[in-house]
Amino acid sequence: MKYLEIRNLRKSFGNLTVIKDISLTVEEGQVVAIIGPSGSGKSTLLRCATMLETMDAGELIYLGEYAVRTGPDGKAVYASPKDLKRIQRYYSLVFQDFNLFPHFSVIKNVTDALITIQKMSKEEALAIGRDLLRKMSLSDKENAYPYQLSGGQQQRVSIARALALSPKVLFFDEPTSALDPELTGEILKVIRDLAAERMTMVIVTHEMSFARDVADHVIFMDGGVIVEEGPPEAVINNPQNERTQAFLSRFER
Ligand SMILES: Nc1ncnc2c1ncn2[C@@H]1O[C@H](COP(=O)(O)OP(=O)(O)O)[C@@H](O)[C@H]1O
Ligand SMILES: [Mg+2]
Repeated sequence: MKYLEIRNLRKSFGNLTVIKDISLTVEEGQVVAIIGPSGSGKSTLLRCATMLETMDAGELIYLGEYAVRTGPDGKAVYASPKDLKRIQRYYSLVFQDFNLFPHFSVIKNVTDALITIQKMSKEEALAIGRDLLRKMSLSDKENAYPYQLSGGQQQRVSIARALALSPKVLFFDEPTSALDPELTGEILKVIRDLAAERMTMVIVTHEMSFARDVADHVIFMDGGVIVEEGPPEAVINNPQNERTQAFLSRFER
């Protein structure tokens, strides 16, 4: 089943066109890695897919449900607030800089949306939160505050928070680039474990060997378009387009 479908997405900021015409499909259980130089539109693509940014044109469909369709004038038309609220439950986004609530404890960061948005009982939310903290090896940090944690621990809290909502699709925007190199591995391991559980994920990353290992499909973006895409071994080890080749030559693979 198609969990996510983006068709002909376009997005400009003023007269700067950032996403030119992007279409992609993510099937259930698939891991899609997005690579590309800084400024190529990767974050904007994720922000449009997660409705943090409004798209100008194109379609956005989760599990067959239209969040955005193309109107008669070619412009993007969003579904009703009620429908969008339901569709928003299909995904979560993990940010580069964690975006934890600094004044909330670890467990409150993980459970707050369950209680306030999903109207779950406190006990039920706590059980889910503790389970996820265990999975992230953070049981002993339940009552800590974000400032008391390493970057890697904070990012694991934010992954637990994203998972608490039981998303169908989990997005990551450069989940390791705010971390010291020695902390990168623990986050990549968590994502590998999620992939082994067949979590559907879209991951923007600069970790090329990780992308090759974990992804089913790799997309190389440059200048707001998909320049090249395909199986990871093909795109990362044997790129055909010269822009992809030039970009990848800067990385160890
Ligand atoms: N809110 C915004 N307003 C104006 N320009 C933006 C905004 N967000 C991103 N941009 C611009 O869009 C381009 C793509 O940015 P971004 O999607 O962050 O790229 P990437 O994540 O690949 O580095 C950049 O030129 C950036 O400056
Ligand atoms: Mg970015």
